[in-house]
Amino acid sequence: MKKLFLVGFMGSGKSTLGKSLARQLKRPFLDLDQYLEEKTGKSVPELFATLGEDRFRELEAESLRELDGMDDKLVVACGGGTPCYHGNMDWINEHGLSFYLKATPRFLLSRLNLSEGPRPLIDPVPEEKREAFIRDLLSEREQYYAKSRFVIDIPGKGADEVIHILGHIN
Ligand code: S3P
Repeated sequence: MKKLFLVGFMGSGKSTLGKSLARQLKRPFLDLDQYLEEKTGKSVPELFATLGEDRFRELEAESLRELDGMDDKLVVACGGGTPCYHGNMDWINEHGLSFYLKATPRFLLSRLNLSEGPRPLIDPVPEEKREAFIRDLLSEREQYYAKSRFVIDIPGKGADEVIHILGHIN
């Protein structure tokens, strides 16, 4: 049994899909941001504000590697930036099966506008500049997300598609 890692931009629905997938497969679910928050006793926005993004990325990479000792049935929702720092995407692929939840900037914007914050990377960007911001950051990050073993189009069949894929590789 391999851990399942969900990666993708903020707003792609990693936590929602991950929870539903874990429920259907009867596997445990772990949200990496939440794990990091519990470990440090600080929220992600607090970590960004007090320690800065570079230190946040170190803690994120460290937390990811701590999953190595945990249940191999874990379904893990990564943070949006997780794959893009400290060789994390290679680590993910060495330790489980990765799924990239791929969505357009327009779709991500609509999800982010509806979702509850705070999101330290997006919140400071004025509303009229958000779509361009998402487009630019997504195009920088695509090279990391694209290293995923499987791509799941969002919106789409979500957890059912992941389960279908798993049925064909096991
Ligand atoms: C980030 C995404 C966030 C969180 C942090 C940074 C990013 O996670 O890790 O705010 O760099 O894209 P979600 O994708 O779960 O919002």
